[in-house]
Amino acid sequence: MGENGIDLSKVEAVLERYEKIESSLIPVLQEVQGLFGYLPEETLVAIGRGLRVSMSRIYGVVTFYSQFYLTPRGKHVIKSCQGTACHVRGGKGALDALCRHLKIEPGETTEDLNFTIETVACLGTCFLAPVFMVDEDYYGKLTPKRAVDALKKYRNEPHTEGA
Ligand code: FES
Repeated sequence: MGENGIDLSKVEAVLERYEKIESSLIPVLQEVQGLFGYLPEETLVAIGRGLRVSMSRIYGVVTFYSQFYLTPRGKHVIKSCQGTACHVRGGKGALDALCRHLKIEPGETTEDLNFTIETVACLGTCFLAPVFMVDEDYYGKLTPKRAVDALKKYRNEPHTEGA
């Protein structure tokens, strides 16, 4: 176990299945993130050692690709659309209401690790604008209140039908 309770033997098990060359880096990072939900620093050190890749190269890759996360993500990921169709119909107001309600900024995760908020450029459902997703669920024609109300379902709070 690493200092943060990270079981590095799982990382070693992933590394064993790959050639010890730099081109293994991205698939290894993907698998390790799949195990922990993000890439704790100690896993990056183990990957660097295992593949003989420098830490600066690893950080370069991890920060270049938006699919990789260096900090824990929430149990539920909110994707707030800020594309043009959503923006002109008030998407920013809905996002601001969500951020105020959760007391975090876009890109951040709540302290209880329940929610992460991300912004995206288009969710492909412009006819529902403004729209956001929580995990795999779409919520459209948002007002700030409807956006905040939609989160109830993802908390351990009693859910009011029709809210
Ligand atoms: S711009 Fe928001 S869904 Fe397309």
